[in-house]
Order: sequence, then structure tokens, then C-alpha cells
Amino acid sequence: MIRVTIDGVVQETTSGERLIDVINRAGVKISQVCYHPQLGPIETCDTCMVETNGQLVRACATTASAGMEIFTKSEKAAAAQREAFDRILSNHVLYCTVCDNNNGNCTIHNTERLLGIEHQPIPYHSKPYEEDHTNPFYRYDPQQCILCGRCVEACQNVQVNETLSINWEDPHPRVLWDGGSTIGESSCVSCGHCVTVCPCNALMEKSMLGHAGFLTALPKTTLGGMIDVVKGVEPETGYGAILKLSEAESHMRELRIRRTKTVCTYCGVGCSFDVWTKDRHILKVQPLDGPTNGISTCIKGKFGWDFVNSPDRLTKPLIREGGKFREASWDEALDLVARKFREIKAKNGPDSLAFVSSSKCTNEESYLMQKLARAVIGTNNMDNCSRYCQAPATQGLFRTVGYGGDSGSIRDIENAGLVLIIGSNTAESHPVLATRVKRAHKLHGQKLIVSDLREHEMAKRADLFLHPKPGTDIVWLSAVSRYLLENGMANTKFLDQWVNGLEEYKKSLAPFTMEFAARTCGLSEDTLKKVAHMIAEAGGVCVLWAMGITQHSMGSDASTAISNLLLITGNYMKTGSGAYPLRGHNNVQGASDHGAMPNFLTGYQSVDDSEVRSRFKAAWNVQLPSTKGLDNHEMIDAIHQGKLKAMYLFGEEMSLVDSNANFVSDGLSKLDFFVVQDIFFSATCRFADVVLPASPSLEKEGTFTSTERRIQRLYQVFEPLEGSRPDWRIIQDIANRLGATWQYQHPSEIYREIASLTPLFAGVTYERLEGFKSLQWPVAADGTDQPLLYTKEFAFPDGKARLFPLSLTEPTDQPNAEFDLHLNNGRLLEHFHEGNMTYRSEGIREKTPDTFVEVSPELAEERGIQSGTWVQLTSRYGQLRVRALVTGRVQGKELYMPMNSVESPVNRLTSSHTDSVTHTPAYKEASVHLRVLPEVGESPLPRINHRFGHPTPQHGVQVERKWKRPDYRMPGNGLVQIQTN
Ligand code: SF4
Ligand code: SF4
Ligand code: SF4
Ligand code: FES
Repeated sequence: MIRVTIDGVVQETTSGERLIDVINRAGVKISQVCYHPQLGPIETCDTCMVETNGQLVRACATTASAGMEIFTKSEKAAAAQREAFDRILSNHVLYCTVCDNNNGNCTIHNTERLLGIEHQPIPYHSKPYEEDHTNPFYRYDPQQCILCGRCVEACQNVQVNETLSINWEDPHPRVLWDGGSTIGESSCVSCGHCVTVCPCNALMEKSMLGHAGFLTALPKTTLGGMIDVVKGVEPETGYGAILKLSEAESHMRELRIRRTKTVCTYCGVGCSFDVWTKDRHILKVQPLDGPTNGISTCIKGKFGWDFVNSPDRLTKPLIREGGKFREASWDEALDLVARKFREIKAKNGPDSLAFVSSSKCTNEESYLMQKLARAVIGTNNMDNCSRYCQAPATQGLFRTVGYGGDSGSIRDIENAGLVLIIGSNTAESHPVLATRVKRAHKLHGQKLIVSDLREHEMAKRADLFLHPKPGTDIVWLSAVSRYLLENGMANTKFLDQWVNGLEEYKKSLAPFTMEFAARTCGLSEDTLKKVAHMIAEAGGVCVLWAMGITQHSMGSDASTAISNLLLITGNYMKTGSGAYPLRGHNNVQGASDHGAMPNFLTGYQSVDDSEVRSRFKAAWNVQLPSTKGLDNHEMIDAIHQGKLKAMYLFGEEMSLVDSNANFVSDGLSKLDFFVVQDIFFSATCRFADVVLPASPSLEKEGTFTSTERRIQRLYQVFEPLEGSRPDWRIIQDIANRLGATWQYQHPSEIYREIASLTPLFAGVTYERLEGFKSLQWPVAADGTDQPLLYTKEFAFPDGKARLFPLSLTEPTDQPNAEFDLHLNNGRLLEHFHEGNMTYRSEGIREKTPDTFVEVSPELAEERGIQSGTWVQLTSRYGQLRVRALVTGRVQGKELYMPMNSVESPVNRLTSSHTDSVTHTPAYKEASVHLRVLPEVGESPLPRINHRFGHPTPQHGVQVERKWKRPDYRMPGNGLVQIQTN
């Protein structure tokens, strides 16, 4: 700690802290237009000038040293701040009363108020550019742009999409997209970072325009007249009076604009933000305080919420009658569900019913669903969609380190010396998490290795890109482990202290020589040795993996191989290291954590553990089944075998997202009684006997658990759409009709019960999760959580990790002469899963209207295919028609289809083969025959899709170029800028 004085008052700080942070912490008000703590110093605005040692310095770019005397209000400093702000106003018209950004948080308005500037000595100069409205979600108004560069910094160095720059040398600088394209045709991925950090109205969400203010919906000509009036009265009245008027209008807005914290409903990264609403209109999503994401979002979290108010929402229960659905009252539908469940249980026993929970819904809802299955019906036939993706990763971690969760936080991934990404298209599937890797790689020298079939964005950025043959990851991973052990590059100290089973593991590695791996995987030995050396030399390795690993017939083993590799190199138990299986859905981690599994109650407490069961029995006052139930995969088989008669599923599009969709749909149609609860009439609803209208996340309270084991609260933004109900209420209603006496009035009461029964969540309370607070499990009773999962020991009785020996298995469904092409599949940035929510966003549909199959340039040439050619894909299990997209992202005879389609779901082509341990379908093992159809249509991706843009990478905003302009002077001292901090 050191001491400095600010305006004569002593402040404690640390050497090297930015003066602006010390000043802000001390509560001293100072102008700072371009500074945003999450962006760091940009140094474009000069409004933060302070005096120290008789010199003027930028407070944002100067660091504290012992004994420093800082004056924020000296004559010199004040004059410099005003001069700097005058220059800003020469780029911006203050028409706050008729501005949609006049909501109390406009930096220009607030700085104007702070500095008390009454008149504008430097006149406003308009710029020779029009507004750009070509992006569906936001617009840029160059006339109001103050050239602070926050947007550029965010795009270049936080999102790292590298679209934005400023042409500082131009007579009229402005923000450029791809160096001068329209926004619509640029590489912009609509993540919204730039809009979020813009300090004024130059970049604004279109959903705000004309909606936020009382007078802002006026026609443009009227608005223009009002702006002229404001400019006209300013010389006489000064800005003070004008600001008072706009502030009165701003206060009026507070009465009708609500800001409610929620957690994103899409992927497992767990971004949280405020949602601004006026009645049922979403004005904007404003991220800032989220522990995971800060200012970051992706297109879906920032802009993908149209589905909530879609006219397609279900608002009436439906009952199938005579092959058709008819509307019914809630009482009639719920009575029918209860009666049928009772009858089927009485006739066929409790295990003839099965329950599928939703990884889109809350922890509390998963808990109630499994409680309904176990305590009310008496079956462990309970699962969730982690069966489709993450169960093998969990298994690999159970085997080796004990807990089935990420071993650290996203912060650890940022801090790693090397990130190894295997089978994960992270920039599209977990976009905000990917930004942290891209930033660390771009700015902080982090090394990046990517192994994938496709050369996606992360692969393009990687220091080393591996393209192994499909389904061979376990081989190269084991060969690298063997090489490390044999060449003295393993961490023997860590192995001695913390790991069991080394000798047996070493023996199991016998077949995995470098030569064997190179031949099997189609990689060179040199490449694999390079991987080994990069791992050994890195100061901390994080491995990120996803469905490219898990959705294989050896998914659990490949996940285990990753954890083995981390163990032998000592990459656990320290920050910047560890295993990170990236969870797909927003709450797929939470659904499993909260007991929606056939073998575990909450917190992975086994159903066959009598001590566990007696605790639950005492709390629930019922008998509990003790044998493992059916998982999703087994449920479908059991229906076909006539053993499973009824199913209750909520928030899952099982008929499209389960593998071998034709077989699954056929199974669902054979059920005696099928209840589907959803917000839309999904494809799965077609097989239902009763459809119950549920509410999405914005219409309920509860908690989600993200990929980093982070439990966060979501608050109710809207009342449930009339006719729909939150899932937890519906489940409770059904349970009570079946004889339960549940009395939950609020999800917090459900969580209290969960915490009381689950050591892993003992200290989780709604109070501890208030607002943007969060907890990463395990959470001790006193509320202590564990961002880093293993610090004192591994989760085994002796505290030691276990190396798990593996052997080689061949992938299933391999290509042959008839089915000669390998078909890969996965996510796309803009859409989520089958697309039930994101296809209902007009803007997303405009950018990405349909699915497609990616075809390599080589194959396209060989078969006479161009982008837009219709092709028929036939596998051993089904067929579909789809348009081709020719791209170098795929190679040779490998195809790729995004999973986002209701009309042509890729799972019509996938098989029923599964990972042998977890029954996760081997989605990534599919072979197809491709027939070129005569029709040629438009390219499935329009020109306005970001993939056709041309980014302009640079390091931040490059303010030095501004300082070199002949008309630039550092404010206050008349000196031309000659150096930078
Ligand atoms: S990618 Fe687009 S939305 Fe995201 S920061 Fe860059 S310009 Fe803005
Ligand atoms: S558009 Fe960019 S440069 Fe212009 S005011 Fe907004 S953040 Fe600053
Ligand atoms: S989809 Fe994922 S990355 Fe995008 S905003 Fe939501 S949680 Fe964040
Ligand atoms: S806040 Fe320091 S230069 Fe803008």
C-alpha cells in the first residue's frame, strides 16, 4: 500500500493503480468520457486531466506512485477538462429531451452537468455522413459520434471481432466497419459490445429508438425542428435550463421503464444483464455487472429475445381428441394428466412412466420434476439433455478427479499460458467465453492449440491447428501423454503427491506410440511432439472441450484422456489450469446438479446409497426407489419394447435433438400417454396427448447454473403471458393432483429445501445470490464457495486424483463405398439448437435464414456443387434435402451441418449408436451419401451474413494516430501530444 493525496485528502492505494480508479474510489467526481473500467484507458477524450507535480496528465493513463499529490480541480486541470469537453461537444448536439438515450446514464449529459458548461465555445460541426441502419439490431449516427473510441476498443480487444476502426487521418473521422463497409455487409457479428459501451446515442439499439422517451416517437421532421429550437435557445438560456427540462423528462421515464436482472437463456456461459422494458416491450439488454460477462454478450443474449412476445406462444392447454388437438382449461388438462398417470402407474407400475427435465428451465424446476418422478410416482426414470452432450465429459471427470464440473472459472481460462480447444467451435457455441481466449491470445501472449475437423474461427487464430481424422482424439491425446511421460516432461512432483494409478496407466499407454498416433489420426509425429512440448512448457494449461469429443462412441474415454493428460502435467489445483467441458444449454449443468438424472438425487447423491435415501425419505415422507432408472436413450428403447407407457417432458425438443430422429419420433408416437410442456407448439408436441403452455425465463424467478458451476438468480421481467404458467407451478399442480401436498409459493422456498438436503449446495441461499451476486459450487454451509474446484484435495476419499487406463475403440457408422462422406454437425453462432427461439427473431432470420450443409471446395469441384445447389443427403437412418454452402472451413470428404433446423434436422441422418458408458448418442459419427439435385437456389447464407465480411484487426483504437493530427493539441497546456503512457 502507498499513500497519495487527492485534492489534499490522503488516500491509500497500491503502486501502479490508475489514478482514475483511485479518484473514483475516493468518491471525487471527475469527468472521464472515454474511460470505462472494463475497457481500460483509451485516452481519446482528454476530459480526465488532473494536475500533479505542476504537470497535466490524463488520470486514466497515469499510475499512482508514493507521495503523489493530485489536483482534480486546480485552475489548470479544470480548464483542461472543459477545453477537452468543448471539443467533444463540437461533435455532438445536446437534444437530450428528444433523445432515446436520456435515461440518466448518458455520459455526455452527465459530464455536461458535472462540468457546468453553459455554452459551447467550439461550435458543432456536422459530418458528411448519413446514419447507417443496415444492421437489424442497432444503428450508427455519425453526427452524434464523439469519436471516443470505446466501441472500437470493445470490438477490437474485448469481443475481438476486429470489425471497427476510426479513420483518424480523415478530415472527418468516423467509426468504420471493415474499413468502410456498411454495417450490414461487414464482419459484425451483432454481439452488441460496441452499442453497450457507447457513452451516448451514436450507437443505439433499434429497439430503443422511438420507444424510450416520451417525445422520441415524433416524426423526424418534427424532431429536427425541436432540435433546432434547443440549439436556438442555448445562447440565451445556457445549457443549465435545457438540461433541467431533459432531466425532468428523464425522471418521468423512470416511472415506466423497468430494469430487471436476468441470466441468459441460451448457452452455458452464464451471461447476466439488466433487461430494460416498457410494458411488454424489450427496450434493450444492458450487460455491465455480470460476474462472468461484464459488458459482454453475443447476438443471442443481446438481441435474441423476440420469441418471448411471439404470437406463436402457447397460451391454452391442448388435449388430443380424435387425432386433433383442442383447447382446454387448465383444470381439465391437469386433471387428465393426473388421472392418466395414476391409471398407468396402477396398471403397469411406476417404472412404466418416465420424466425428462429441461436444461433451459431453472434448478428449482428440475428439482421439482425429479421429486415428482421419485417421491410422487416412485420411479428413477428421470433424465435431462445432458445425456445428449455432456454426460461423457462428466464421466471422464468423475473417473479422474471426482467432481463432474469445470475445474475453475472463465478467469482461469483467461490466465492460462496455453489453451487447448478440442472439438469445440467455441467462438460460435460459447461466444463470450471465446472472447476471453481471443483477448488473452491477442493481447497477453497466451498460446492456443485447436484440434477440430473444421477450420473455424478459433482454429484460424490458433498457433497450432490439428485436424485429426474423425473419432481419433483419444489416440493422439494418449500418445502425447505417453511421450510426455517417457521424455521426462511429466510433473512427477504433482504425480507423487496427488495422483494414484500411475503404473497401471503407463501400461495402458503401450499401444499409443507416436508412430501409431500419427498413422491413425492423420497427423505428423512432429506436430504431436510440438503439442507435447507446448503443453510441457506452458505456465498452466486449460483444456476446453465440447461435443466434438463427447458425442462419440468413445466420448467418455476421450474426456478421460483429456483429464489424464492434465493430471500427468500437473494442470489441476492451480489457477490458469484445468479441465473445462463447455456446457451447452444455459442450465444443463444445473439440471444434472439438481437431480434430473436416473442415478443421482441432488448434488450427485446416488439413488442406491441407503444413507442418502433415508435422508430424502425423512424429508419427503415417502419411500424411494433404489435402482437406477432409464436414461433418455433407454427410454426410447423401452417405448419400442412396450415397457414404457407414459412420459412427461418439459422444455425439450426431443423429437429433433435426439439422435436418429425417425426412430425417436416413431417411439414417441407409440406412447400411451405423452405430456409435453413448452412455450411453443414444438415438433415434439405433435406426438403429445396433452400440451401445457409454459413460461420462458423472462417470466419467472429461479436460478441457473452455468458451465463454471456458477449459480445465479434470475428475476421476473414480465408477468407470465396470459394463459401460460411457470413450469414449477405446473409441476406442483400435477404433483398435488396426484396426492402430494406441496405448498411452494416461490422458488426460493424450493431452493431452501434443496440446500437442506444437498451438501454440495448447503450454503446456497437467495440472499447470497441477490442481484448480480453468484456462488460457484460446492458451497459450504457458511456460504463459502469454490471458484477453483480443487485447492486442498480431489473429490475422492483419500483426496487423490486417479489416472484411468484406457484402450482403443473404433468409431461407429464409418464411411464405406455407399455412404462415402463423413457428416459432422454442431452449433452456429446466431441460432440456438433446433432454433425454436432464435428463428423467431426477425433480425437473426434476416442474417441467417436457414440451415445448410458445408461442402469443401475440393468436393464441390468434384461433384459440380456451388453455394445454393440443393443436395440430398442419405444416411443409413434417413434422408433430407438441404442447400450446399461451399467453404474452406471443411476439408475433403467431410461435411458439416448446423443442427439448427426444424424442417431439415440433421438428426434424421444420425444413428442410435452411443457412448458405451453414458449412452450419449454418437452424433458425430455419421456417414452419408450425397446426391446433387437439379435445382440451384440462392446461397443459403445471404451476403449480409458476417461470414462474408473482411475484418480489420488492429490493436485497439490507435489513439496515437489522433495525436499526430495537425489539429490536435493536448488540452490545457497548448502542447502537441508527444508521448503516451
Ligand atoms: S462485432 Fe459488431 S456489434 Fe460486436 S462490437 Fe464489433 S461492430 Fe459492435
Ligand atoms: S460510436 Fe463509438 S466512437 Fe462514437 S461515441 Fe459511440 S462509442 Fe464513441
Ligand atoms: S448465448 Fe451464451 S455467450 Fe451469448 S449472451 Fe447468452 S450466455 Fe452469453
Ligand atoms: S477518460 Fe482519460 S482520456 Fe478519456
